[in-house]
Amino acid sequence: MLERARHILSPSARSDVPPFMVMDVIVAATRVEAAGHHVVHMEVGQPAAPAPRTAIDAARRALDGPLRYTEALGIGSLRARIARHYGETYNVDLDPARVIVTTGSSAGFILAFLSMFEPGDRVGIANPGYPPYRHILKALGCEPVLIETGDATRWAMTPESVLALHRKTPLAGLLVASPANPTGTMMRPEALADLIRATGEAGIRFISDEIYHGLDYAFPAETALRISDQALVINSFSKYFCMTGWRVGWIVAPEPLARPIERLQGNLAISVPTLSQIAAEAAFNGRDEMDGVKHGYEVNRRILIEGLPKAGLETFLPVDGAFYLYANIARFSDDSCDFARRMLEQAHVAATPGVDFDPIDGRHYLRFCYAQSQADMHEAVKRIGAWLHRQ
Ligand SMILES: Cc1ncc(COP(=O)(O)O)c(C=O)c1O
Repeated sequence: MLERARHILSPSARSDVPPFMVMDVIVAATRVEAAGHHVVHMEVGQPAAPAPRTAIDAARRALDGPLRYTEALGIGSLRARIARHYGETYNVDLDPARVIVTTGSSAGFILAFLSMFEPGDRVGIANPGYPPYRHILKALGCEPVLIETGDATRWAMTPESVLALHRKTPLAGLLVASPANPTGTMMRPEALADLIRATGEAGIRFISDEIYHGLDYAFPAETALRISDQALVINSFSKYFCMTGWRVGWIVAPEPLARPIERLQGNLAISVPTLSQIAAEAAFNGRDEMDGVKHGYEVNRRILIEGLPKAGLETFLPVDGAFYLYANIARFSDDSCDFARRMLEQAHVAATPGVDFDPIDGRHYLRFCYAQSQADMHEAVKRIGAWLHRQ
């Protein structure tokens, strides 16, 4: 009897995905703060600034009206506005019929994977990379295949590395992010184009996570849509538009996938929160405000690029975009969890250990998020320098 109860209550094997380790850092930082210390928070990958004023005002006005379900694909005028954004930003003519509004890009991944892959399909992702890629694929019964990146290829996957794997055991898909998390590194437009063409010729489906577009400093980010109309693009209002908690994003799907995704979304969620969709459409009118926020990140980035080497962290990946700097700590430690814990407890600077993003070499890296104030950046550099000096 007891045995049967245990069986009924036991979770499925596919729900056994690892937690996000950054959550542990947040709890530890809260403990340090409760003990009376000021912590510089560089662990969480989200903007400190609020949503654009235009978005907040539109949401306030909408609260007085009925907030009903919307079409499964999203509010028509928002989908049209997103399509117009591709014309304005990338000079790409996009049919709004291909745009699907999603509950953050996180729900976009679920819809994309369900519409593109069968259980057991192998999907290539870069290592290091954003952990939920692996975990969502696994929960859906697909097999994430880590593809190592390194200095020689500017931390990007290449046609050679992908096709070599594909020849051994075929890949059904490849997922690329540029700018990437945790590295903040971007693919050069030619490198992205080469990869998309090579995967297309090999019959590998291509997904481009463009959530950090708009936050590019080294060179302009390229959209996969300019290269192929067979790529599926995922984006979000979370990062450039500072709307993480509003949970709204979008997919641009190849035309044959739009209807299957509509059916999936209708069944899985009915529609995306209406208030957030209304705010998202108005967010496009707040670009000047958001460009000001972006400028703040650029200043922060410069403070870290110049300050961290003097503080003792000389080696980091190309700091091209998003708001991350991925620093090598191998000179000091073989255990990024222990290093991050000591840096938090002794220097009161919180960062995320690389093992969250890279099961192979993450013990040698820390991710710093620079989406906070300039004063915080100066303070972090000062504290890290003094702390490393004492090691
Ligand atoms: C690379 C990347 N993709 C997707 C997401 C998910 O963001 P959201 O669901 O808020 O759009 C994140 C969040 O940090 C991310 O870093």
